[in-house]
Amino acid sequence: MEAIIKVDGLEKSYGEKKVVQKISFGVNKGEILCFLGPNGAGKSTTINILCGLLGYEGGVIKYKDKDVKKHLKEFKRHMGVVPQELAIYEDLSAEQNVRFFASLYGLRGRELEEKTDKALEFVGLYEKKNEKAKTFSGGMKRRLNIACAIAHEPELVIMDEPTVGIDPQSRNHILSSIKKLSKSGMTILYTTHYMEEVEEISSRILIMDSGTIIAEGTKESLKEEIFEERQFILEVEEDEDLNTDEFYKVEGVKKVEKKAEELIITTLKNVENLDKIIAIVIDSKTKIVNLYCRTASLENVFLRLTGKSLRD
Ligand SMILES: Nc1ncnc2c1ncn2[C@@H]1O[C@H](COP(=O)(O)OP(=O)(O)OP(=O)(O)O)[C@@H](O)[C@H]1O
Ligand SMILES: [Mg+2]
Repeated sequence: MEAIIKVDGLEKSYGEKKVVQKISFGVNKGEILCFLGPNGAGKSTTINILCGLLGYEGGVIKYKDKDVKKHLKEFKRHMGVVPQELAIYEDLSAEQNVRFFASLYGLRGRELEEKTDKALEFVGLYEKKNEKAKTFSGGMKRRLNIACAIAHEPELVIMDEPTVGIDPQSRNHILSSIKKLSKSGMTILYTTHYMEEVEEISSRILIMDSGTIIAEGTKESLKEEIFEERQFILEVEEDEDLNTDEFYKVEGVKKVEKKAEELIITTLKNVENLDKIIAIVIDSKTKIVNLYCRTASLENVFLRLTGKSLRD
C-alpha cells in the first residue's frame, strides 16, 4: 500500500505538558483512516500540525517522501481541511463561501464556478446556494464546511469531528458523502468520538490516548487481537432441568450463564465447539428458539485499551 503521508516521531508540548509524544503513523492512499480518542487525547493537535496550522518540536512529516516543512505550500494545495470549529462566513451565501475557499487554492474562472457548483451539489446544498450561511441549521453549516474543503478536489481531506451536534439526517448525509469521496479516490483522515461512525466508514483506525497511539488496525483486526473470546447466545424454551455443568466439559468453554430463556456461553474464539454445545441442549430435550453469536464491539476494545468510555 502506498503511504501518502508518513509521520515519524512527532512531538508537541504546551509548556511542560507533552500533548503529542513521539507518535508515528502513515496515511495510505485511498483509505478512510479514523482517529479515535477521548477528549484531550491529542487528536486535534496532531491534525492541526498536519494541516500546517501548528508548529511542532520533534519528528518529521513527509508527504510523498518530501518533508512537509520544506514543501508546505505544495502540500497544502493537495489537502482540504474541515476543522473542528466551523470555518465559514455567516454573512456570505453558501456559494460565496465555497468560491472564497476554492479561490484560495488557486481556482479561477470557469473551473472555479464548476467546482463550486459540484461541491455544493455533493453536500446537498446546491438548491440553497444563494442563501446566507447564517440562515442554515447546524447540520447544513457542517455540510457547507465540508463543501469549502473539497471544492478544489484535494488528494487528502482531513476532517476533525465534522458531525458533532447535528441531526441524524445530516449525519447520514455526511457519512455517505465521505464514503463517496473515498470511492472517488480521495484519502480521508477523520476524527470522531462516535464509535458507530468508525464502524460504518473506517478502513483503518488509530486509537490515541494521552498523546500516544495505543492501537492501530482495522476494526476487525482490533477486535480480533484484543478479545480472544466470543459468546453464543441461545434463546431456549425455559427448562429447569438443563444442567449447565455439562457445557464446561466442552473444550474452549469459559463461562455459562443461564437466564430464564437465554443461555449465554462464553468460549474461546479459535475453538470450533458449537456442534458440541448444541448437542448438549438437544440431548436435554430443550428447544432452541434462536441462536446467535456476539463478538466484541469497538466500544469494548476502546474500554479495554484506555479504561475510559468515549463519551466521558
Ligand atoms: N493552545 C493550547 N494551550 C495549551 N494546551 C492546549 C492547547 N490546545 C490543546 N491543549 C491541550 O492539549 C491536549 C490535547 O488537546 P487536543 O485538542 O489535541 O485533544 P483532542 O483529542 O482533539 O480532544 P477533543 O476530543 O476534546 O477534541 C489537551 O490536554 C489540551 O488541554
Ligand atoms: Mg479535538
